[in-house]
Amino acid sequence: MADKTTEVRLNFMAALENVQTMDELEKIRVEYIGKKGYVTELLKEMKNLSNEEKKTFGQAVNVLKNEVNDKIAEKREELKQKEIELENSRMPEFDISTPANLERGSYHPITLVQRQCEEIFRSMGFAVEDYSEIVTDYECFEALNIPKDHPARDMQDTYYLDNGQLLKSHTSAAQNAIYKKYKDALVNEGKPIKAIFPGRCFRNEATDACHENTFFQMEGVMVDKDISISNLIFFMKTMLSEVFQKDIKVRLRPGFFPFVEPGFELDISCLICGGEGCPSCKHSGWLELCPCGMIHPEVLKAGGIDPDEYTGFAFGLGLTRLAMMKYGVKDIRDLNSGSLKTLSQFTDDK
Ligand code: DAH
Repeated sequence: MADKTTEVRLNFMAALENVQTMDELEKIRVEYIGKKGYVTELLKEMKNLSNEEKKTFGQAVNVLKNEVNDKIAEKREELKQKEIELENSRMPEFDISTPANLERGSYHPITLVQRQCEEIFRSMGFAVEDYSEIVTDYECFEALNIPKDHPARDMQDTYYLDNGQLLKSHTSAAQNAIYKKYKDALVNEGKPIKAIFPGRCFRNEATDACHENTFFQMEGVMVDKDISISNLIFFMKTMLSEVFQKDIKVRLRPGFFPFVEPGFELDISCLICGGEGCPSCKHSGWLELCPCGMIHPEVLKAGGIDPDEYTGFAFGLGLTRLAMMKYGVKDIRDLNSGSLKTLSQFTDDK
């Protein structure tokens, strides 16, 4: 009987040696320690043995089983590590020490990401809108359900002009104008409102590697009859999978913003480890990317749309953050530096 365990052990080791992928590993796991696996079958043979033989044989099979389990776990770790290394080698790594290419001009990385997003949303029937950088308090806050004394204003301190206007602290400031522009076509012709509006935003922030007083966002809204969270998830997943050229998983967590109800934080599966957990995603497998939600009835009302008839979703994508993720830029200040040495490294084809 002992020969049998040795035979199974040798066969297993030889098979494990040839494993290259997680799928192959799973196949071998089932083949050896699955319900009808070789090791499991050995245990079934015990019933034909004497008590004394049962004891030694049972022990030998258990040792083998543990060994197979350990070896499979070891191999799994090894394969995971290889996958991460491969992913890492595919991620473009921005290198500030690369010499400048001054022979031809190049687009700013945020422009590249913005244009790519515009193209994707256009192909899904969204209009691309431009909006002023100087807005009123009503547009930036009041129309978005953020009255004068609301604490949500604390996080969006911005720069005020003498005439009471301000530099917009988020692209949501254009929502009210967009609803007003398209509401007649929605009501009279049944045309859903589908628009994105990228733009530069400003906040009174102390700068560091992750914060700047000037950054870019891209807002998107869709309003029609019976729009639900599933529509929101579909459009976000499609867009992000196109931007990153791979299948992106998304998840929603609750998040509070006065202009959406319910509100969410949308996370994407980590681009480096694909969700397994690595230093880039602080071992959580997820990266926080885009706040979003179902447009608050008061916000629709302020835009002249009847919330009893229409619903919609909105999202505020951080374009600057997206560009940093896509191009591997670690310090946000590099993007606003205006340094040709930095900016000439990005080209259309990256
Ligand atoms: N405007 C928000 C900000 O900059 C982001 C945001 C959250 C936009 C939720 C949205 C949304 O459209 O639904 O902090």
